[in-house]
Amino acid sequence: MRITRKHWTICTISILLIFFKTKEITRSVEHEEAQLGLMVNGSEKILGKGVPAFLPPKAGGWTLNSSLVLMIRKDILRFLDAERDVSVLKSSFKPGDVIHYVLDQRRTLSISQSLHSLLPDVSPMKNRRFKTCAVVGNSGILLKSGCGKEIDNHNFVIRCNLAPLVEFSEDVGLQSDFTTMNPSVIQRAFGGLKNESDRVRFVQRLTMLNESVLWIPAFMVKGGEQHVERVNELILKNKLKLRTAYPSLRLIHAVRGYWLTNKINIKRPSTGLLMYTLATRFCDEIHLYGFWPFPKDSKGNAVKYHYYDALKYRYFSNASPHKMPLEFNTLKMLHHKGALKLTTSKCTQL
Ligand SMILES: *[C@@H]1O[C@H](CO)[C@@H](O)[C@H](O)[C@H]1NC(C)=O
Ligand SMILES: *[C@@H]1O[C@H](CO)[C@@H](O)[C@H](O)[C@H]1NC(C)=O
Ligand SMILES: *[C@@H]1O[C@H](CO)[C@@H](O)[C@H](O)[C@H]1NC(C)=O
Ligand SMILES: *[C@@H]1O[C@H](CO)[C@@H](O)[C@H](O)[C@H]1NC(C)=O
Repeated sequence: MRITRKHWTICTISILLIFFKTKEITRSVEHEEAQLGLMVNGSEKILGKGVPAFLPPKAGGWTLNSSLVLMIRKDILRFLDAERDVSVLKSSFKPGDVIHYVLDQRRTLSISQSLHSLLPDVSPMKNRRFKTCAVVGNSGILLKSGCGKEIDNHNFVIRCNLAPLVEFSEDVGLQSDFTTMNPSVIQRAFGGLKNESDRVRFVQRLTMLNESVLWIPAFMVKGGEQHVERVNELILKNKLKLRTAYPSLRLIHAVRGYWLTNKINIKRPSTGLLMYTLATRFCDEIHLYGFWPFPKDSKGNAVKYHYYDALKYRYFSNASPHKMPLEFNTLKMLHHKGALKLTTSKCTQL
């Protein structure tokens, strides 16, 4: 219990600090951003009432603006250091410590022995720098894109939610250096790991990751703890070599704080936006694929929510915690400014 209170306090203080800090530097940042022309002016107005902005980003003529990339990296560093916040470390906890869920402070989680043994000793992203990175979202816009080779050609490839690759490799590629896994995926895609065939399939999928990073947001909301526990036990039992990471308790608030200073109010940043935000620390050039939060493409053809399953659209639902079209328009604006490259069309074969 002593730990509970301590962590609660630390967490509260850091949240307060973030908001205080946000407020404090909002003015100067706003001034700076206005000069940069970085500030987004009411993306939602541009979007209209749930009417998607179907315009794809310009494909040709994109150039990287390296000074803008550096400026964004520096700004984000005022809120979080992805090297540190990408994962809590073994030294932060002891088995049996109780923590409060980041987005559900009344609920708690006890750090199990197996979870503790999988916490990294040092950040899996320590001192890692890359010339070009790909952040791959899971939109059906990737189907028939032929982007697999281009994606695999990046120095570092970030993927979301353990999406299947082999059957779609032409369009999505195979290389994975960093893969996120929300606990809910275990139920949705692996039957909660309740029977042996699901467990075998899951272990096979993880084995494909070799020694790359598996990033599990285990401390966000209550609900997935038994799944995370089963995952941890399978990793240990099968002696999988992948490097597990569990995002820090402050990450989401810090990311939210950064985007707020750009007038982008996102209660719960999507995994894709989180990954872009983290990647700014490690990557000189960030290319985004598979980001398309609309049910139709620019020609009016239907687009699946995920390239690999039959999940239905929730972009405009009030129940959805994410603000996908707002996020997308932000990314599109950053594309036009040369801060990142957003690919939503077919890739020209290399
Ligand atoms: C790069 O971005 C900065 C900051 O937005 C801007 O001042 C500069 O003109 C841009 N450079 C080019 C070549 O577009
Ligand atoms: C923001 O958008 C409004 C119209 O929606 C416009 O009148 C205003 O000039 C814009 N401001 C900036 C800074 O672009
Ligand atoms: C894992 O290693 C195998 C064999 O070296 C390789 O073929 C495969 O592409 C690697 N997987 C990833 C995700 O890098
Ligand atoms: C295991 O569960 C999955 C559903 O998650 C089901 O499709 C499969 O048939 C089951 N296999 C066995 C051997 O019970």
